[in-house]
Amino acid sequence: MKILGVNKGETLLGKQLRHGGCAAFVDGRFIAIAEERVTGRKYAGGFTCSLARVVAASGLASPNDFDVVAVSSCCESEKDAVDGHAIAGRGNALAVGHHLSHASLAFYGSGFDRALVAVIDSGGNTMPDPNQAGNGEWWTCPREQSSYYVGDVHGALELVDRDFNEPNQTGLGELYRAFTYYLGWHSSTHSSKTMALAGHGDRGSIPGCAFQLEHGRLQCAVQNNPTRPIQMVADLSHELGVDFGEPRPPRGAILDIHRQVAAFIQRSIEDALMAKLTLLRNRHRATKLCIGGGVALNVVANARLADLFHEGVYVPSAPGDDGQSLGNVYAALRMLMPKNKVTVSMATSTKAFLGPAEQIDSAAVANALDATGHSSYVVFETSDPSELLARLLASGQLVCVYQQRAEFGPRALGARSILADPRRSTSVAQLNTIKRREWFMPFAPTVLKERMHEWFRPTVHSPFMSFAVRATPQALEKLHAVVNADGTARVQTVGPDDKESFLRNILLAFEKQTDIPVVLNTSFNLGGDPIVEGMGAALSSFGEMPINALALGRFVVVKSLSPTLADLPLEASVRKLRMTVHRSGEVVPVDPGRSKVWLTVRNLQSLTKAVVFVRSELPLYGPYLEWLREGRKVTTIRFRKGAVEIPHSPVLPLFVTTDYSPGDRTRPTEHVQISAIRYQKFGELSDSDAERDGFEDLAHLRHDLTKIYADLSDDDWVTVYDIGLVDR
Ligand SMILES: [Fe+2]
Repeated sequence: MKILGVNKGETLLGKQLRHGGCAAFVDGRFIAIAEERVTGRKYAGGFTCSLARVVAASGLASPNDFDVVAVSSCCESEKDAVDGHAIAGRGNALAVGHHLSHASLAFYGSGFDRALVAVIDSGGNTMPDPNQAGNGEWWTCPREQSSYYVGDVHGALELVDRDFNEPNQTGLGELYRAFTYYLGWHSSTHSSKTMALAGHGDRGSIPGCAFQLEHGRLQCAVQNNPTRPIQMVADLSHELGVDFGEPRPPRGAILDIHRQVAAFIQRSIEDALMAKLTLLRNRHRATKLCIGGGVALNVVANARLADLFHEGVYVPSAPGDDGQSLGNVYAALRMLMPKNKVTVSMATSTKAFLGPAEQIDSAAVANALDATGHSSYVVFETSDPSELLARLLASGQLVCVYQQRAEFGPRALGARSILADPRRSTSVAQLNTIKRREWFMPFAPTVLKERMHEWFRPTVHSPFMSFAVRATPQALEKLHAVVNADGTARVQTVGPDDKESFLRNILLAFEKQTDIPVVLNTSFNLGGDPIVEGMGAALSSFGEMPINALALGRFVVVKSLSPTLADLPLEASVRKLRMTVHRSGEVVPVDPGRSKVWLTVRNLQSLTKAVVFVRSELPLYGPYLEWLREGRKVTTIRFRKGAVEIPHSPVLPLFVTTDYSPGDRTRPTEHVQISAIRYQKFGELSDSDAERDGFEDLAHLRHDLTKIYADLSDDDWVTVYDIGLVDR
């Protein structure tokens, strides 16, 4: 069964919908990516561009190769989702309700057998209006705003209750949006600013609550009108007899009243959720909760709900509308395979890495550097760069991280992240400038799950940064960059189960160096841009940032051999080595003056016009190691497309390999001493070069090297190391 999930970018009446994307389930694998990542336009709707990426990553020739296309929509009826739809026109389309999609992602990805499922957003599908009282605008129709289900893996999601589904009712998401406008941010996409500012306010200074639970139903005192948000807040002020002050103009100063207004609406949302979900928890004897819909991005409210459901609260990595595509896939799986247990737990941080895979090897990195005009950068290659990255972080540097598959959802979880030392407030100032963030927006910590209790309470399972929890006294004292004004932090936990997580290795290395099992983790993007996607985009954004290091897979790209890097063994390595460039019979020393390492590297780049990689280890085929031991081989010849090499240290560990892949490097077999390096075009190697490399003649060498390096041609540079085994 091959299932494609998409969410529409436009309703039949022409309303533009944001947060589009595309997801697929093919051969038991999930692939998903938001439209904004592919288009580079933040909050982009529809799926035109993401579809092409997902089809290619699925190994299919065309979207027509999917068995089913599951489509959802918003602000129109569920049935309208498939009407007039390009892909849906083929007759294999399945309409998925907007809230059912959110609920499916939240429940079937949780791994729970049974749970209460709350879907809270600004609204989903409209529903038939028996009175036909509305004027045609979506908010004047009966519609989904807060829906509650009971999920059971052996049955379907059962809708058990709804709030705010009458025409013109104002739900939690709608009122939060109105207050966000009132506070000067004229888009619901700025709701996180309201939540952050609330942390700077006094939750009790404006009394009352915007919502009341009456006869088991949540009610709001004011009617909804998304076109007049300021009036809605003014009406509520009148109804409650409280003073919200004047609305804040965009980019106006943030006054004390604005903090109090933010705290008021935040508390109102939380109190409403607590009251309603306590009732439903008791009514349905639920011990676990799943939350979907955009309001599930409210990490402060989620943390309070975690107190109600001690056996677990799950929030998917993309609870908002960008997660609809994947929710549709889950819903379709459940509809088409009802007898099977559909639950596929996503509840570890690595399970959010659903983006189309991208090949990150030395040729791809060299090509990307060349294509983006950044060929002067230097690339450190090691099978595990976490120690080097932890060292940079501990020295106060910011580090960009770009790993193979992107996280699905709005939060960077270690695949497209900028990391920093959580102890340094200076990191916050730097990041605020890079990302054009407001001063009160907090940065989040990522912590080793098994050490969380020492730093944050209560301990929660939070692989997707879904809960704001309290910092312990130790964290308040030390982690200045990641604790909010109210003493909380939006924590990401990375546990021992997250073995594939790149971040886990960095956390372990950082802890080893500093005794702090925490790093600051924020998204890898410039202010106003979506999170980067594609190595080219990553290098371009990195190029504009005042950040020196970028981890592309296991390659660490640096702009400058800064003091922290230069005091690695690299300096000694380069100073001791005899390095020469051989070209058409001419021999040019790379660094006749034995000067600084960066100058040597610049000379080498200038002579070869190639990207310079710094090698940390030497993989070698088993038979060649025998030649080395016998003394028959005294050189090793290495090739990377578009690049030349220098060694990280004069002595490198040697690994026996069968295919040069990093995966089979376990313990070094031996060590080799490097005494000299020669850079030469492959086509200019001689019989004597071949003999020094252990071969009978040049023909044998050329045969073997072109077998190992399939894309090696005569005009390519090779790096020839003079080596000898070290007796250690
Ligand atoms: Fe939604």
